[in-house]
Amino acid sequence: MSSDVDAETEEVSGSGGTGSSDAVPVGVKLGSTRTVIAFPNEDGSGLKTIRTLTCLASYEDPLTGEEKYLYGEEAAREYPDRVQFMLRSGLPEDENRAELTEQFFTSVIESHDIPEDSAVVYAIPTIDNPAGLENLQSVIEDSPIGNALMESYPESLCGSIPAFGDDLEAIEQIFIAVNMGSTNLEASAYRRGEQISPFTTGAVTGNEVDRIIANYVEEETQGRVNIDITTAREYKEEHADFEAFEPFTDIIQQPGGGSHEYTIERSVMDACNEYLDDVVEEFANTFLAQLANDHMKVYQLALDRPVVLTGGMACIPGVVEEFERRVSEELGREIEAVAAERPDLSATIGAQRIAARLVQNS
Ligand SMILES: Nc1ncnc2c1ncn2[C@@H]1O[C@H](COP(=O)(O)OP(=O)(O)OP(=O)(O)O)[C@@H](O)[C@H]1O
Ligand SMILES: [Mg+2]
Repeated sequence: MSSDVDAETEEVSGSGGTGSSDAVPVGVKLGSTRTVIAFPNEDGSGLKTIRTLTCLASYEDPLTGEEKYLYGEEAAREYPDRVQFMLRSGLPEDENRAELTEQFFTSVIESHDIPEDSAVVYAIPTIDNPAGLENLQSVIEDSPIGNALMESYPESLCGSIPAFGDDLEAIEQIFIAVNMGSTNLEASAYRRGEQISPFTTGAVTGNEVDRIIANYVEEETQGRVNIDITTAREYKEEHADFEAFEPFTDIIQQPGGGSHEYTIERSVMDACNEYLDDVVEEFANTFLAQLANDHMKVYQLALDRPVVLTGGMACIPGVVEEFERRVSEELGREIEAVAAERPDLSATIGAQRIAARLVQNS
C-alpha cells in the first residue's frame, strides 16, 4: 500500500504559508474523477499534493470479518467488478453516495496523516443542484479535518489563482474563467472574487470525450477493438495533444489466446477537436451572450484580459492556444487565454492559498 500512497503524492513549488503554531492550511477538491488535496510540507518548504481517483471498494478482512476499504487507483485496478465512483455525476446524489464519499475521504485523510487541527478550504463546483450540494456540504462538515476552519469557494475561482501569479492576485481582478471538467463545463466572470453570471452545462464534458474515443476506436479498427471508457480516458490523458499528436499502438489479448496490435491515428484527436469546438460554441454563443446581456461592463472589461482555463481537460498540450484561436475566430476579435501550469491541480492549490491567507488573517 505504501508504494501506492507514494505514487499519489507529488511536490509543487509554493510557500505553503504557515507559521509553526498555526493551524495547517489545506486545500481540497473532491472531483468526480479525481480528488486532489494540498498542504505544506512539514519543513515548510513547498506544497505536497495528493491526487487520487475518487473511488472506493470494500472487501471483507478474511481474519476478522471486518469490512475494509480500498480507494483510488488500487481500488479501480483490483476491484473493477465492484469499485464505486460515488461522485460520477459531479456531486453525491443521495445519502448512500454521501456516506461512501465520507468513507472515501476519511480513508484518504488517514493514509496521508492530514492533521485534524487544520484550516481547510474546499473548491466547490458551480452546479445548480441544491440537494447534491447539500450532500457535499455534509461530507465536508463530517470530515475529520478542518477543526480550525472550514470554508468553500468556487472551483473555477480557486483554479484561476495559480494562473495569475504566486499569491492571490486573481482575487483582485476582473476576468472570465472556464472550468473544463469531467462532468461539466463551467464558465463564470469574477469581479474581485465575486462570481458573476455563472454558466454550467453537462453536455460538453471530459467523460463524453472518453465515450466518443471508445466509439471511434471501434470504427477506426473496423470493429476489431472494443475499449472501455477507462482505457479511453487513459488514451486521452497520455496522447491527446493539439500541437504534436503522434499515432500510437496498443495490444489487446484475445479471449482464445493470441494478441492483436493496432494503431490509433484519428480517434483521440477527432474526439478532442469536436470537444473543443463545443467548448468554444458554448463559451462564445451561450455564456458570453448571457454575460453581455446581464453585465455589459464586466463583459467588456473581462474580455480585454486573458480568459483562464482550468480543470483537467485544460491539461491537453496546446489547448490554450487552440482555444484562443477558435474563440478569436468565432468572435472576430483577438482573445487571449491562459492556464496554470497544472490545471488539474490548480483548484486545490488555489484553495490551499486561500486557506493559508485565512489562517494568517485570523
Ligand atoms: N493530462 C490530461 N490530459 C487530458 N485530459 C486530462 C488530463 N488530466 C485530466 N484530464 C481529464 O480532465 C477531466 C477531469 O477534470 P477535473 O479533475 O477538473 O474534473 P472534476 O472536477 O473531477 O469533474 P467535474 O468538476 O466536471 O465534476 C477528466 O475527463 C480527465 O480525463
Ligand atoms: Mg470539477
